Amino acid sequence: MTAQIIDGKAFAATVRAQVKEQVAHLIADHGITPGLAVVLVGEDPASQVYVRSKGKMTTEVGMASFEHKLDVDTSEAELLALIETLNNDPAVHGILVQLPLPGHMNSDLVINAINPAKDADGFHISNVGLLGTGQKSMVPCTPLGCLMMLRDHHGSLSGMNAVVLGRSNIVGKPMAQLLLGDSCTVTIAHSRTKDLAAVVRGADIVVAAVGRPQMVPGDWIKPGATVIDVGINRIDKPEGGTRLVGDVDFDSCAAVAGAITPVPGGVGPMTIACLLANTLTACCRANG
Ligand code: GUN
Repeated sequence: MTAQIIDGKAFAATVRAQVKEQVAHLIADHGITPGLAVVLVGEDPASQVYVRSKGKMTTEVGMASFEHKLDVDTSEAELLALIETLNNDPAVHGILVQLPLPGHMNSDLVINAINPAKDADGFHISNVGLLGTGQKSMVPCTPLGCLMMLRDHHGSLSGMNAVVLGRSNIVGKPMAQLLLGDSCTVTIAHSRTKDLAAVVRGADIVVAAVGRPQMVPGDWIKPGATVIDVGINRIDKPEGGTRLVGDVDFDSCAAVAGAITPVPGGVGPMTIACLLANTLTACCRANG
């Protein structure tokens, strides 16, 4: 069997087009331009790439983009003061503080200073609690993008066995909550899980979010299962140079799976599309 490729790039383009259309309506009919503020502290190269890409996509859908680049030595108090300003700025509907933050900052404190209604990432403790109890919340972008692809591919996920590899607050835990909300039987596996291969072999849906290049081999995958690869890892090519790979070994998994997301072009583009969708949602809720 050769897996169907789930084209996240094309799906994300469709989501962005829908967001763009609704933004145009908001501007034309209500004079409201949704705005997203992205805060980057320091000069982490990967974070700089993400932030640039987010800003570009934000303006492409017609939203206002506010970028705040702070020096790596910025104090936590200064960052908290900026967040307070953004919380009170009516032109800002979504706020994202790029992670990781420099070591002298308490990320939990910073994230929880964001107005939960403007928390475009869905990382605020209030949104985590709302999601965990099945209430209306801001939903973290990467797991939301994964869920949208799964729903699009399968229709209903009810009763499926889902294994989430990784227990991060950003992906693993919210992903498990979302799958549970769609009536999957959910297992969260991690570095201490015993007989990981056997656990993964029981899965109709595998979501890999461990940050370890090509960790999941094809012989762990149940024939016909759907594999969602959240990993973005840069590895050396034998002939020199580098390339991006996911957390699953694409070729061997694609030979067994029913469907699989590629890296790049799978989950990554969906994450930014969902960030824009979250900002639009926040703007609509703020304006009744
Ligand atoms: N760093 C890596 N992924 C993310 C994300 O989804 N949101 C934020 N704010 N920072 C990140």
